Amino acid sequence: MIRVRVFDSAADLARAAAADIARTLRANPRLVLGLPTGRTPIPLYHQLARLHGEGRADFSRATTFNLDEFLGLDGRDGRSYRAFMQRHLFDHINARARRIHFLDGDARDVAAECDRYERAIRRAGGIDLQILGLGLNGHIGFNEPARALAARTHCARLRPATRRANAALFGNRIRDVPHYALSMGMATILEADRILLIATGATKRACVERMIAGPVTPRVPASFLQLHRNTEVWLDRPAASQL
Ligand code: GLP
Repeated sequence: MIRVRVFDSAADLARAAAADIARTLRANPRLVLGLPTGRTPIPLYHQLARLHGEGRADFSRATTFNLDEFLGLDGRDGRSYRAFMQRHLFDHINARARRIHFLDGDARDVAAECDRYERAIRRAGGIDLQILGLGLNGHIGFNEPARALAARTHCARLRPATRRANAALFGNRIRDVPHYALSMGMATILEADRILLIATGATKRACVERMIAGPVTPRVPASFLQLHRNTEVWLDRPAASQL
């Protein structure tokens, strides 16, 4: 059963989520965090940076794993998710570089890179807290709606809607958005001890409703969160308006 919390505003949600992560970090300084990209977590990352600046969030012993990365982009490419995370979070907190993990979008052997990531997550003891965003078509990470979903970290073909949603990182030129990306799989995500999905804005209300109240179906990958025993979905009012 997914637990839902609705906040008055996206800013309130970001503050509460950052405070929750900071509390979790204090209880377990060796926290293993799974992290998303996208517009939704940006205010959360800014709040985490603020809490760190105030001495209330110490990431020095934490480990992070990002969910996904575009295929063909080097981590130094400003359009990569690694660069995004650097700009919005890692430049402003004290996470140790050797404990920050990304899929290498530029890896020569994609299958080996996906295996390496799975092994690194296992070696870290698994993900304690996985933060997720929600794609407009119900995707999580880059697990796109399909007839069947991939369990493990894999190379995914991006849907046109998803490439459109990511165009801002590519100067709004959709044709420049890669067609493929590497992503944690559904089992990789569902193995996290705790999952916190955040979604804001009216554009998300239909997929929020399908994720929470619809059937569990690979056509809405986020609906698989209904099978997880410790998932919370935090929404602002517009995102919750169809529930
Ligand atoms: C991308 C990411 C997802 C993210 C989604 C939603 O496609 N791969 O992990 O959740 O965008 O993005 P936004 O928060 O901008 O709506």
